[in-house]
Amino acid sequence: MFGKRAGTSLSKQQDKPADDPVSEGKNAPAASIASSKSPEKITKAKTTEPKKRASKPESTARSEEYYAIKTMIFNALIDTIDLGQLAQLDQTSAAEEIRDIVSEIISIKNVVMSVAEQESLLQDICHDVLGYGPLEPLLARDDIADIMVNGSGSVFIEVAGKVEKTNVRFRDNGQLMNICQRIVSQVGRRVDESSPICDARLADGSRVNVIAPPLALDGPTLTIRKFKRDKLTMQDLVKFGSISPAAARVLGVIGASRCNVLISGGTGSGKTTLLNCMTAYIDPAERIITCEDAAELQLQQPHVVRLETRPPNLEGSGMITMTDLVKNCLRMRPERIIVGEVRGPEAFDLLQAMNTGHDGSMGTLHANSPREALSRLESMITMGGFSLPSRTIREMIAGSIDVVIQAARLRDGSRRITHISEVLGMEGEVIVTQDIVLYEIDGEDEDGNIAGEHRSTGIARPAFWDRARYYGLEKELAEALDEAEG
Ligand SMILES: Nc1ncnc2c1ncn2[C@@H]1O[C@H](COP(=O)(O)OP(=O)(O)OP(=O)(O)O)[C@@H](O)[C@H]1O
Ligand SMILES: [Mg+2]
Repeated sequence: MFGKRAGTSLSKQQDKPADDPVSEGKNAPAASIASSKSPEKITKAKTTEPKKRASKPESTARSEEYYAIKTMIFNALIDTIDLGQLAQLDQTSAAEEIRDIVSEIISIKNVVMSVAEQESLLQDICHDVLGYGPLEPLLARDDIADIMVNGSGSVFIEVAGKVEKTNVRFRDNGQLMNICQRIVSQVGRRVDESSPICDARLADGSRVNVIAPPLALDGPTLTIRKFKRDKLTMQDLVKFGSISPAAARVLGVIGASRCNVLISGGTGSGKTTLLNCMTAYIDPAERIITCEDAAELQLQQPHVVRLETRPPNLEGSGMITMTDLVKNCLRMRPERIIVGEVRGPEAFDLLQAMNTGHDGSMGTLHANSPREALSRLESMITMGGFSLPSRTIREMIAGSIDVVIQAARLRDGSRRITHISEVLGMEGEVIVTQDIVLYEIDGEDEDGNIAGEHRSTGIARPAFWDRARYYGLEKELAEALDEAEG
């Protein structure tokens, strides 16, 4: 079973430093995985090794002793297997191979463990060798929105809108850096002292950012926005109370009657999720082009072209920006353009597109209120080097954007749609907006959860009424607004 390297004894391996040669791709032993083992060495090891007792490997907290034993077994395993051959096996066979070898090491080293403890240790080791190490159990959970690793000993997650610290930890910053390296290498990038910032994506679509020392002072810092396989739908948002059924109907009309929409909100407030929900109202016959930094949207329509920006390569060339994509989009006969996140000069091109027959285009933007969203849009254009008078830029914004929807994560962790506002036009130098539906906070219940309600502001005929009528949706809009008034 053991493919032992010549001259390597298990007792010697125990003294190895705890770096992780797997991910560095070095120290791969030349012997085969399934070569013969040396019975004398096994017997010798048995007699010389003192009995070790593994502490109970609980999923919550693990002792230093557990980590010490894991490191020792891990090092013995690395010296024993041929990583090159292991890499050729599929996940299941590789895991089986590792399982056999680890069981044998445990018996040779006289580590006393229950079956359950051994199983848990085995799983940890498989994750280290074949996957993303201690991150694997977190990646497997579908209830986690974000994973935030701030150096090897500090891992936080966001579950149900609340950030909590986990007991997950990495052996050291070396192991964490190796895992970061493994993640970014999948998108052909490298992260090290000379290029310490990197965006990447996991195979499942999760969005990853790595920032390494010397920029990150406490070790490699990894942020993962978990990809949700089952995207939330508007019905889910209604179920969670993020939006009322009546306000969801209003959003339905906005989406279907081809209003140009800006979704505004803070980090992680649910902008992309809401954008995805809004796209559900698009007619299946329309040709839609999406532009994103990392593809997150999952449109259900049959006629969708998905585009993604590209960072510069290692030599610093080949970068494709959002502006490049939006500009190119216009030559692709789009009916609607969806921009995942507007954060720079592409704002100008998007507004131009909205103004020139691509009604129903949508985008998200970081801002704390609909008014702030509009002024951010203006500063993005100004900073993009367009030497236009600010009045012209504002006129362009007022003429292009129909509706701003605000998403927010409230202090109790819940995510809500707090404003549905429309842009009416200009009055003097100022863009005039009007709220149609607002989330009003009434108070807090005894568990600290925010209680409130979505209420219509009483506007019976929003400015997009004519648009809704054109698409035959004025009755639906009137009913929805009536219902929202309660
Ligand atoms: N209304 C909601 N209720 C519950 N969970 C939600 C809601 N909206 C979004 N989420 C969850 O919150 C997380 C963040 O959502 P999303 O990616 O849409 O945020 P974002 O505002 O686009 O973030 P970023 O600013 O990082 O782009 C996701 O895991 C998503 O499933
Ligand atoms: Mg987003």
